[in-house]
Amino acid sequence: MKYAKDSEYIVIRALEDGVQVIGLTRGTDTRFHHAEKLDKGEVMVAQFTEHTSAVKVRGKATLYTAYGEVESEGKK
Ligand code: TRP
Repeated sequence: MKYAKDSEYIVIRALEDGVQVIGLTRGTDTRFHHAEKLDKGEVMVAQFTEHTSAVKVRGKATLYTAYGEVESEGKK
């Protein structure tokens, strides 16, 4: 069993106000369980845990992960 404290971190850096970082539940039921709002320049450091299997980012942000960097786009 891999524990949350050992799991990798991702870093989300908001490039505009109101970026949402949404945590999705682990298990058969995939639903939102947490939404964090970041304003421009704010950074969130998060792990994947026994409760969180996926993260959705809404808005313009840079994500730094073990797999590289990706940029999400804001709505035009
Ligand atoms: N209580 C949540 C958990 O332990 C907190 C959390 C961890 C979270 N990683 C996240 C919330 C990523 C949103 C996005 O799973």
